[in-house]
Amino acid sequence: MEANLRWQVSWGAAERYEENLVPVIFIPWAQELLNRAELVAGEAVLDAACGTGIVARMASDRVGPDAKVVGADINAGMLTVAKSKSKEEGKVIDWVEADVGNLPFDDASFDAVFCQQGLQFFPDKLSALKEFRRILTVGGRCVICVARSLEHNPLMNGQIEILTRYIGEDAANAIRAVCSLSDSGVINDLFAEAGFTEISIESVTLTLRHSDGRAFVARNMSSTPAADAISNLPEETRQNLLQEYLDTFGSYYDGHALAFPHVSHVVHARV
Ligand SMILES: C[S@@+](CC[C@H](N)C(=O)[O-])C[C@H]1O[C@@H](n2cnc3c(N)ncnc32)[C@H](O)[C@@H]1O
Repeated sequence: MEANLRWQVSWGAAERYEENLVPVIFIPWAQELLNRAELVAGEAVLDAACGTGIVARMASDRVGPDAKVVGADINAGMLTVAKSKSKEEGKVIDWVEADVGNLPFDDASFDAVFCQQGLQFFPDKLSALKEFRRILTVGGRCVICVARSLEHNPLMNGQIEILTRYIGEDAANAIRAVCSLSDSGVINDLFAEAGFTEISIESVTLTLRHSDGRAFVARNMSSTPAADAISNLPEETRQNLLQEYLDTFGSYYDGHALAFPHVSHVVHARV
């Protein structure tokens, strides 16, 4: 699988991801997942494909400072940002560079495994879910979210249209990958085959907001795997690209602020 289909951002883009996308997109989803997991103090938590670690960092507040909280990702740049943010926030979290298909953790060593907007990027989804099941205790829960299809998600739909036109198919494919696991039947079968029970899959719509729509679309474009290609465009072309992206939001943009639906399947399953 090509690197950009696994959401591999270059150095610098991890910092922009944390600064620009995490507050608008990933904190609201992390809250949603953590509420469903009903963590209690002392539980051991893994944030798989943690990126800059927002789920682990927020989970740490719920399980307390003495609990084991770990974040794992294959991208060293993402982990560097995760490490510095957790240090800044005074949280003790282990950050581990690892592939979800081969996690360096003992059997039955976690009470909860989270994977926020990660499963769609794994080339071998079943192996990853089997790994999540292996490292969970009996009764442990796996809580994940994956974006639904493009027609539900104007943020990605508009981005694909614009990237195809201005940068090329490869750049657009990196965004297509975000919405590539949208069939709840396929997701259910993967969890069942990995050995999970009590599998529930719910379509959840969050309204995501930013008070400065233009600034947000600029930052959104610069926080994705297409960031380098966009920054190499002539300034005037870049401004046109951003205006046309903003226009794709239609009535979700009021001339200043953006408020748009972001729709994912949220899965809760047990061992
Ligand atoms: C869209 S980001 C989501 C990050 C994070 N969960 C969040 O909520 O901000 C997808 C992440 O999956 C990671 N990833 C992709 N394939 C992976 C793999 N095989 N093993 C571990 N991490 C992987 C990427 O490096 C990236 O950090």
